[in-house]
Amino acid sequence: MTVQWPQTTAAAFGNDLIYATHDLHKRDVFSDEGIIRILDEFPRDQLAIWKFGGHSEGLGESIRGQAPKASGAEIMEAVRSGKFWLNVRRSNLLLDYMAEIGQEIFGSLEDATGRKTRKQDMGLLISSPGIHVNYHLDIPIVALVQIRGEKTLWLYPNDDIHAPADQIEDIVHMRREEDLPFRDGFDDNAIKIDLKPGMALTWPQAAPHRVQNADCVNVSLSCEYMTLPALMKANAIYTNGILRSQFGMNPQTARKLTPMNMSKAVAAQALKKITRHKPINKSTPPTFELDLSAENYARPL
Ligand SMILES: [Fe+2]
Repeated sequence: MTVQWPQTTAAAFGNDLIYATHDLHKRDVFSDEGIIRILDEFPRDQLAIWKFGGHSEGLGESIRGQAPKASGAEIMEAVRSGKFWLNVRRSNLLLDYMAEIGQEIFGSLEDATGRKTRKQDMGLLISSPGIHVNYHLDIPIVALVQIRGEKTLWLYPNDDIHAPADQIEDIVHMRREEDLPFRDGFDDNAIKIDLKPGMALTWPQAAPHRVQNADCVNVSLSCEYMTLPALMKANAIYTNGILRSQFGMNPQTARKLTPMNMSKAVAAQALKKITRHKPINKSTPPTFELDLSAENYARPL
């Protein structure tokens, strides 16, 4: 067994939260030594390092860091004793042994759903005890595989209240990071999930969520992927962003694959060619360096 999805997965896929079980947490690659090896071998300039400000209403605080000099063991120590959230992004594309694990997971999803997965991106998330990941959404579909530690995930409806159309469009156009403003009342509509090693789940595309780690280091695989309908919806949202920002229109978010949204997805291909020469990227620049000798292991840049 790698990941065991239920028999009902194909019917529920795209609309419902789907739980699975797995045995990946028993692999040596995810031991402390294994993770230190990954941190040492992974291209350091590709490693995402963040600090978050804690859970509150509004837009969560977040600052990005870098670790060009620290060893894998030092980074792991900073995660263990400090407050950091790391993403070994696209680990399946950059490390051979992670590629094999990615194939097992994405293969299990394809077998269970009967759909081809595209743009496979398996991030290894390594995060500190007690850290809270801000309210946000991901444009691809996500399968989250819990490897070590325990955490609570709150999953919210993908609707105009919890994920306003203009903000999703800004995320697709890379005019903002994935964080969204949170309201306390949102929790009334959330599904709360306590994650433990051996659990995995996938949820409908672009559903907002937030995560609270228990008082332990957490290691998870965040497996992002697209299906053809998911890719078309993302492209329709891209076109909506242009209709809103350049033509003053107020299009509805593409949550279903209607004929109109399919037309918008086709239009996005042409629009991307036109706008390719002027990329808009508002990603956050790094403002600290991870350094064990600095206060809270973060030296301001
Ligand atoms: Fe996420």
